[in-house]
Amino acid sequence: MTQELTSPSPAPQAPGTGRGPGWWRDAVIYQVYVRSFADSDGDGIGDLRGARERLPYLRDLGVDAVWLTPFYASPQADGGYDVADYRAVDPLFGTLQDADDLIRAAHDLGLRVIVDIVPNHTSDRHPWFQDPVLARQRYLFRPGKGESGELPPNDWESVFGGPAWTRTDHGDWYLHLFAPEQPDLNWDNPEVHAEFEAIMRFWLDLGVDGFRVDVAHGMIKAPGLPDIGHGAQAQLIGAQVLPFFDQDGVHAIHRAWRRLLDGYGDARGKQVIGVAEAWAPTGAATLLMLALPGSAYLYQGEELGLPEVTDLPDEARQDPAFFRGGRATGAAGPGTDTESAPDGVAAGGQDGFRDGCRVPLPWSGELPPYGFGPGGSWLPQPAGWGGLTVAAQTGDPASTLELYRAALELRRRLPGLGDGPMSWAPAPDGVLAFTRPGLLCTVNTLGHDVGLPAPGTPLLSSAPVTVDDATAQLPGDSCTWWAI
Ligand code: NOJ
Repeated sequence: MTQELTSPSPAPQAPGTGRGPGWWRDAVIYQVYVRSFADSDGDGIGDLRGARERLPYLRDLGVDAVWLTPFYASPQADGGYDVADYRAVDPLFGTLQDADDLIRAAHDLGLRVIVDIVPNHTSDRHPWFQDPVLARQRYLFRPGKGESGELPPNDWESVFGGPAWTRTDHGDWYLHLFAPEQPDLNWDNPEVHAEFEAIMRFWLDLGVDGFRVDVAHGMIKAPGLPDIGHGAQAQLIGAQVLPFFDQDGVHAIHRAWRRLLDGYGDARGKQVIGVAEAWAPTGAATLLMLALPGSAYLYQGEELGLPEVTDLPDEARQDPAFFRGGRATGAAGPGTDTESAPDGVAAGGQDGFRDGCRVPLPWSGELPPYGFGPGGSWLPQPAGWGGLTVAAQTGDPASTLELYRAALELRRRLPGLGDGPMSWAPAPDGVLAFTRPGLLCTVNTLGHDVGLPAPGTPLLSSAPVTVDDATAQLPGDSCTWWAI
């Protein structure tokens, strides 16, 4: 890296929701999928400069922080989650100077920046994996089973489908819980720990405010790499502890990173490890999520109510899960993770394949690329998105975008909403009600209206609520915030 960068820009300091030390406890964090957010140079691929130019939109939306998906040097076998150099920016997305400029611009606008760190695996193009000696120390290589080692070392399956092992020209096998281009690191090796701490320091020195840890439940594997004995492992994820996820040793890694960030000494105060898997709420669910304690994660485009695109042509697709899962040839494949679902959990839409939620954002205009950039877009945008653009929704009180803006503004205005207490309130069957500092939230989970004594004055609702003679009618599948 030849670029000279100056000292890090100071993070926002103002007190209040989403500010100051511990800001992450109640922050609203917006996930920017860099490739699909905004394109500055017309190559049809979103980039850091494009993201920087759109930061005022995020400030006005009312989020506290931006989470940037991986923009590091990568062959892009898995949308950048296959990192070849953790300290370099991939030319597709810009330069290190662009990252520095973005962090500074975000801080100037009062936004924090967290970056994705990918510690479970690297790219197979990473220099460590390219060196046969180093690779066998820092990744998980094993001899195969069978008379001549022709069978994988155990029965583990890749989250993307197929065996989790690939045989090398040397005859041994390496583990990859995701694509073959993403070999799993050997976290029993202290050099791996040291390298990731150094990578974190590199980005903290550049001014980032924290990290989103990819596959945060991974890294440590059970001793001996035991067989699971179940042919459909994706279905077991979350239901039982598997020998490759949620192992006890994972906590020690997170504690070490927590200490690194706590002790990270400069004027900017404490930083945070944001260990997160986001989920993208729809309809009523957004107001419910924003009324719950803790930080909230928004996935880009949900504030526009963008639907999953389910009719992408096969030749446009890039999600390795689509190809590994056998869908490209019409065969059934296992469910896998999406931008909005935890690793390995089958999601809706196209059985969890992720290109459909990565279609570039529509900003303005009636025709593709809808202001995404001066060129086209790497995935085709649907013809009917003119009414869903940021420009079309801005100022329309009935729009999803204005609902989000109003909800985020209220969340900021009500002290303690993010990080304060919560208690359940009485409600009819099929309705949830709970109080938070400054409001009561009702969620009608039924498909039809429900009447109940009005708990207060409606502040915000995902669907029109009526109050007559102190009786409120909650529309089916709706969430309402009440001033109490
Ligand atoms: C979770 C990320 O959301 C996903 O895009 C990626 O494929 C896997 N982790 C593996 O890195």
